[in-house]
Amino acid sequence: MPLKKDNPCILAIETSCDDTAIAILKDNKILANVVSSQTIHEIHGGVIPELAGRAHLQFIVPVFQKALQNANITTQEIDAIAFTQGPGLVGSLLVGCQFAKGLSMGLNIPLIGINHLKAHIAAHYLSDKTPKFPFLNLLVSGGHTQIILVKNYLDYEIIGTTIDDAAGEAFDKAAKMLGLPYPGGPLIDKLAEKGNPNAFVFPIAKLDDFQYSFSGLKTSILYFLQKNNSLDVRFIENNLNDIAASIRYTIVKTLINTFEKAILKYQVKDIGLAGGVSANQLLRKEFQYLANNHQINAHIPAFEFCTDNAAMIASLAKYHYLNSDFLDLKSVPFSG
Ligand code: KG4
Ligand code: ZN
Repeated sequence: MPLKKDNPCILAIETSCDDTAIAILKDNKILANVVSSQTIHEIHGGVIPELAGRAHLQFIVPVFQKALQNANITTQEIDAIAFTQGPGLVGSLLVGCQFAKGLSMGLNIPLIGINHLKAHIAAHYLSDKTPKFPFLNLLVSGGHTQIILVKNYLDYEIIGTTIDDAAGEAFDKAAKMLGLPYPGGPLIDKLAEKGNPNAFVFPIAKLDDFQYSFSGLKTSILYFLQKNNSLDVRFIENNLNDIAASIRYTIVKTLINTFEKAILKYQVKDIGLAGGVSANQLLRKEFQYLANNHQINAHIPAFEFCTDNAAMIASLAKYHYLNSDFLDLKSVPFSG
């Protein structure tokens, strides 16, 4: 293997769910951040794992070529290959894993396995103003909702989590009940901008410690829609913006209330928001207000680094590289 560098050029691959993404980090800058989102799942109301795996196979080579072209580099300039090891869909992860192993072997450079959730947090290290350790991070994605105490680049402690659905899942399931296509989170967010958040009242779950729960909200939305639809068949159509705004308000309030308890307990000076739901406009605003109220610093990634992308994989991979945290090609470097 070649000698290790202080400032490596890393090609990173992300295929944990339904986005085929490749990014290139060089001289601490993201030179390419290519994401190909699979639209095939829209009509199914959710990600179909087998279709996702097949689509990754189809897109991974064109995405790789586009990334090299955007970065304007050759494969000879790459010092390491990183890929998402998990969590994620097995068939999707396998495509990225095998592509990464092939590149690592062919180019004779190290292979780095990355945890997808920790990588969402590493999106913060791509901005000009990075959080100071230790900081508390609210991780909100389609599959996870966690409060994490980040002690260092590679040292994390999960202090709270959801006991049922994730925040993104709550948005997507609510959207499905409203007849919106998958993923519904961004659509609810857009519709909510023109609605009244206090038009309808939904329950805010209050749990012990730093736990979350969204399944009660899901049931209450279902009963609410059934009841009102039976009285007026055009209820959803006529009240879509207000319903979306009320649902968004409830999910955001739930997230912020519990996270505030963690701020009070851990007394950190910096807080971070990460994961796909961090693209939510109301959540971004409320997170900033929360930081202002406690006179601490809020860190929210740029939109392109919120939802799944490979730049965040490259960002975390750099610290694994500096730590010589490389995988053995003969092992099965994969955890679904
Ligand atoms: O992190 P991510 O891209 O994939 C996972 O790791 O799960 O998160 C995807 C989730 C989906 O549930 C999607 O609906 C949600 O993030 N999402 C949003 C918004 N943008 C993406 N939810 C609410 N408002 C948004 N603007
Ligand atoms: Zn994600």
